[in-house]
Amino acid sequence: MKTYVVAITGASGSVYGLRLVEQLLASGAAVTLIVTKAGREVMAYETGFSLADVGPTAVDAVLRFLEIAPGAPLRVVASDDLFDAAASGSARIDAMAVCPASMGFCGSVAAGLASDLPERAADVMLKERRPLVIVPRETPMSLVHLRNLTSLAEAGAVIVPPSPAFYQRPKTIDDLVDFVVGKVLDQLGVEHHLFTRWGE
Ligand SMILES: Cc1cc2nc3c(=O)[nH]c(=O)nc-3n(C[C@H](O)[C@H](O)[C@H](O)COP(=O)(O)O)c2cc1C
Repeated sequence: MKTYVVAITGASGSVYGLRLVEQLLASGAAVTLIVTKAGREVMAYETGFSLADVGPTAVDAVLRFLEIAPGAPLRVVASDDLFDAAASGSARIDAMAVCPASMGFCGSVAAGLASDLPERAADVMLKERRPLVIVPRETPMSLVHLRNLTSLAEAGAVIVPPSPAFYQRPKTIDDLVDFVVGKVLDQLGVEHHLFTRWGE
């Protein structure tokens, strides 16, 4: 079974991360979800979904919100839990997506700070040369933001900006979200049917 880490930070767009978790679980993968403190606050503001704690209660809450049957292989881990498996290169983690990624997160990882679990887990992906997909959300971007993203790309991360294409002729917000999440899944090598591929 493939195992993915999904981190949701305090950038706008937790809806992308939640949809990503749902699709990864639907693909049969195991998911470790880490939501930063700011991520929880922005997620509650934008989606109405309050993720108050971690562990089994949080898992139940996420699965209920995503309308997934209980028992799916999801873990919800505290963002300050540096003892979690995701903090170690020896853990069997296939890939990580940071979705959405705040500019603060990008700057910290670009500087190698590893000061909380999402930052450390991303740091581990880079040092182990495993796939790290970053969905940076900010506009416009300053030169600082762009330089940090360049550093991350140079270190091996794949940068997937949440910029939906309109040749898909989207009709709903869900269509826009699905295009972005589909692009993330493509980078993770996970099959999906979230959009029609050009030429098919
Ligand atoms: C409603 C709201 C929306 C925000 N959107 C963004 C955003 O799109 N991008 C960003 O970099 N920061 C955004 N922020 C600021 C981050 O939440 C803030 O920088 C936070 O410290 C990030 O912490 P984290 O990386 O630990 O999650 C937003 C904050 C709020 C309250």
